[in-house]
Amino acid sequence: MSYHQTVRDVYRDAAVATANNLCCVPQTPRYLPGLAIPSIMHEMNYGCGTTIHLQDMTAGQRVLYVGVGGGLEALEFAYFSRVPGGVIAVDPVPEMREAARRNLEVAAATNDWFDPSFVDIRDGDALELPIDDDSVTLAAQNCLFNIFTTAGPDGDGDLERALREMRRVLEPAGRLVMSDPVTPWPLPDHLRADEILRAQCLSGCLTFEEYLQSMVDAGFGSIEVRARRPYRMLDRERFGLERDTLLESIEVAAFNVPVPADGPCIFTGRTAIYTGPEESWDDGAGHVLPRDHPLPVCDKTAGLLSDLGRSDLTVTASTWHYTGGGCC
Ligand SMILES: C[S@@+](CC[C@H](N)C(=O)[O-])C[C@H]1O[C@@H](n2cnc3c(N)ncnc32)[C@H](O)[C@@H]1O
Repeated sequence: MSYHQTVRDVYRDAAVATANNLCCVPQTPRYLPGLAIPSIMHEMNYGCGTTIHLQDMTAGQRVLYVGVGGGLEALEFAYFSRVPGGVIAVDPVPEMREAARRNLEVAAATNDWFDPSFVDIRDGDALELPIDDDSVTLAAQNCLFNIFTTAGPDGDGDLERALREMRRVLEPAGRLVMSDPVTPWPLPDHLRADEILRAQCLSGCLTFEEYLQSMVDAGFGSIEVRARRPYRMLDRERFGLERDTLLESIEVAAFNVPVPADGPCIFTGRTAIYTGPEESWDDGAGHVLPRDHPLPVCDKTAGLLSDLGRSDLTVTASTWHYTGGGCC
């Protein structure tokens, strides 16, 4: 049986009966005025973070959601767009599409503002999206891309193909919002080759650096890291590892803008603070730092400013919770 079939089997089963142990991190349910999320959607939350961030929500945008699961995030995106077909949700597993449809019908009964036509559920695959070029403003996937194979000597893996597809369908400057697990060090081959663990979002993940690099390699020039938190502990005895391995779940937004000649802009929550005698300081490279106030900077700028070694400049560490503003 192929790995793709294993994945489909795992998610067919998770659509037919709730899989309590699959994905998900401890979170309090989101509260938005007038939004009543059916309990079945919480039970079928197979994401490992969230892709719903208020700073991405603009009027009239067309959203693509890949890997619909139980429909929770499709409903949340629809809360903001509220037009027929405003959210297109793609999934290759018929049972999962059917479960999402059912759950959205349940949601329609308890949410006056919602009509199931707001979510256009389509049969399709992340590797070959049934979506036109340059046609969506915002694309999202939650806890799917980590299960994909990556490039090897034989050429691109599914991850590279999926990221290229996301970029193809995004408008210029559109954003790809994702959540996936990452590992602190490369996982051994015996785990990466375990198809079930991999399909269950436990053993296919990349390191944080590899994950970001995969987006840059696909042509996304600016990336925001919005959250980073514990996801699962892989115990060394049970998983045959040299050491216990704490997987983290991260939330990122990657922007469909060209990669600058001097490297991508990656925001991880770092800031630069000027404390000299002037009211502000201009670094001559487009950054004006008001005295005493932290200016959010990308990691590239943070590194350049640190290297100046100035006593009137403080560069703060990554918080992993970047929420906007600042350089680039
Ligand atoms: C881990 S679940 C995440 C579900 C949902 N995003 C959530 O947060 O609850 C992965 C989802 O991706 C779907 N899926 C699996 N392979 C896929 C593929 N190649 N392309 C698109 N979706 C896929 C599964 O059927 C399932 O709905």
